[in-house]
Amino acid sequence: MVDVVLGLQWGDEGKGKIVDFLAPNYDIVARFQGGPNAGHTLMFEGHKVVLHTIPSGIFRKGIFNFIGSGVVIDPITLQKEMTTVHKIQPDALSRLLISNGAHLILPSHRMLDAASEAAKGKKKIGSTLKGIGPTYMDKTGRNGLRVGDILLPNFSERYKALRDKHLRLLDLYPSIDFDLETEEQKWFDAIQKMQEIKVVEGTYYINEALDKGQKILAEGAQGTMLDIDFGTYPYVTSSNTVTAGCCIGLGVSPHQIGEVIGIFKAYVTRVGGGSFPTELFDEHGAYLQNEGHEFGATTGRPRRCGWLDLVQLKYSILINGVTQLAMTKIDVLDQLPQFSYADKYLIGEQEHTHFPFDLDSAKVTPLYQEVPGWQQRLAGTQAYEDLPEKARNYVSMIEDKVKIGVRLISTGPERDSLVVRSLV
Ligand code: GDP
Ligand code: IMO
Ligand code: MG
Repeated sequence: MVDVVLGLQWGDEGKGKIVDFLAPNYDIVARFQGGPNAGHTLMFEGHKVVLHTIPSGIFRKGIFNFIGSGVVIDPITLQKEMTTVHKIQPDALSRLLISNGAHLILPSHRMLDAASEAAKGKKKIGSTLKGIGPTYMDKTGRNGLRVGDILLPNFSERYKALRDKHLRLLDLYPSIDFDLETEEQKWFDAIQKMQEIKVVEGTYYINEALDKGQKILAEGAQGTMLDIDFGTYPYVTSSNTVTAGCCIGLGVSPHQIGEVIGIFKAYVTRVGGGSFPTELFDEHGAYLQNEGHEFGATTGRPRRCGWLDLVQLKYSILINGVTQLAMTKIDVLDQLPQFSYADKYLIGEQEHTHFPFDLDSAKVTPLYQEVPGWQQRLAGTQAYEDLPEKARNYVSMIEDKVKIGVRLISTGPERDSLVVRSLV
């Protein structure tokens, strides 16, 4: 059985923390899409680690961690992560495996990402510049290089052919600063280092584990609203971040999917371009950013903040078939005497409960409901009864509106700052 954990907003919902917490209940934690654009933060035993490619179950003894075919890998980032993980837990990397089908991010993919963003000017996506878009373009364009290709005798020729194609494409764009020679050297060194990790036939690895009755926890990256098909296009990433992306990225049948655990923040954040309906430009936005330490785990950019949006959340629940919810960062709302959530949109004169096709042309005005704040510190709370009544009411209100139970409530960044409820 494969349980899935994924983000229901615009990323950074706290997937790393929740996966790290849940991992001991599983045999394998598997990343199914995205690449080093992700930044998943884990805080445990005095460590703070941001993982970009390595799954978030890596520090749990005895649990295998698998990077699936749907992931795009930059060997340079992976090498840095391997060093970080090894320092904290020297034997951890023996539990890491990579699918031979995962595509490789070349240094020239990063160049193309930067050049394409520069050419877009004001309309730029706000990409993390990790080369994600160009790598997935080469994948669908049938030009990409995969992890399994590294051992082929013509690997360096294929590398050069793809790089040269990129260099020709770069002539179409404004020029950018990039030391390709140095980056290539680092890349080939990192490819050597990567060979310390076991490479497997991804589809057989996962399906044979399932046949043996093993339990898999699939870890999503980004969030539903950044999905290439269902997100706020074109301000999205280049992979399928939704539950269906798990079947594609790991090579498992939809029949194997068990629980779908959807994570959302008690409010909303977004980093990069593209609007979001409940974005706040006032002191409340600044409050959420300060209290929530809302700065990108990968790029350090400030995250834009706004109130919880139930129109958006219901849309994400619908697409993913969410069976359980996990709410994070409720503690960030602690000091507010009152706050709001949106449960409908006004578009023109009409009220809407559907997420619009195009946010820019729809001109959405969210219709808000007010919530009384609890003005009490929640940080570290572990028992549901220990949450103030007003906080419990906020949770119940969401459950009533979206018709799904909130099983996990995260009350701080550390591994054990979590309320776990049994749902009936
Ligand atoms: P991910 O990409 O979904 O894994 O999330 P990120 O790691 O990018 O961002 C989530 C941030 O919130 C990290 O800095 C976490 O340490 C932190 N965090 C996670 N859960 C909580 C929580 O319940 N309360 C607070 N205050 N911080 C949290
Ligand atoms: P995690 O897994 C938040 C955003 C970027 C940009 C858009 C496209 O940590 O939640 P890309 O580099 O993919 O071409 O950028 O997507 N983005 C994320 N935002 N969290 C992430 O990952 C993100 N990964 C990409 O900011 O707007
Ligand atoms: Mg993140």
